[in-house]
Amino acid sequence: MRLLDSHCHLNMEEFAEDLELILRSAREARVERMLVAGFDEPSSGKALALAKAHPAEGVFAAVGIHPHDAKTCPPGGLPESFQDWAADPRVVAIGETGLDLHYNLSPREVQEESFRRHIALAERVRKPLVVHVRDAYDEAIGILRDEAAGRCTGVIHCFSGEWRHAAEALEMGFFLSFAGPLTFPRAAALREVAARVPEDRLLCETDSPYLAPQPYRGRRNQPAYVAAVYETLAEVRKVPLEILAGQVWRNAERLFGWGDGNV
Ligand code: NI
Repeated sequence: MRLLDSHCHLNMEEFAEDLELILRSAREARVERMLVAGFDEPSSGKALALAKAHPAEGVFAAVGIHPHDAKTCPPGGLPESFQDWAADPRVVAIGETGLDLHYNLSPREVQEESFRRHIALAERVRKPLVVHVRDAYDEAIGILRDEAAGRCTGVIHCFSGEWRHAAEALEMGFFLSFAGPLTFPRAAALREVAARVPEDRLLCETDSPYLAPQPYRGRRNQPAYVAAVYETLAEVRKVPLEILAGQVWRNAERLFGWGDGNV
């Protein structure tokens, strides 16, 4: 059985001290692929550097600017460096990008503009999007429709919306990735949504160092803990863990081009 973490931030300061240990723990937990997502220009460069330094551990990168950091986007476009980075074979997705109207750390219009630029870049390099949405599902789906993102698709990471949002994203060809919140006792509604997602559109992630799943709640999250997300997902979908792991693996291969030949 092989597991994967479709969204983590090993590029953050929190992992600077003990990255080797974290990667070893991931391997021991059978986590054989990890997608490290950038959230601003320096962290995107770091994600790519990690992917290049750790091919044997299955580390891949996504480059993007988080909606919180959208205000760091240069006026008129994404950072120049993104053009080259996006074309790198170790970069398998564009993001994270999206809309966050919960914290509003960047003005809404700036978030929207940045989101649209990421969609355009993803379409140009023909790579999937990694989309972050918080308290903005209707708005984010509206932008995706608007920009015809159905052509490049992608993943809604750490999905937390209602079924109607899931249905719209699925209809546009998007995948839904579930994270630690799926395991929280009060997340019954989210588990019901997760149970209904077609098996060929599911992904699992940690969003480390944030959102540690239930048994580890409150601690620094890490890719090895993704197993807890798989276990909850297998339980709510009433499928054996091994079967779910195979489905998620094939989904990621399809979306990110994570073939064996890529490592
Ligand atoms: Ni993230």
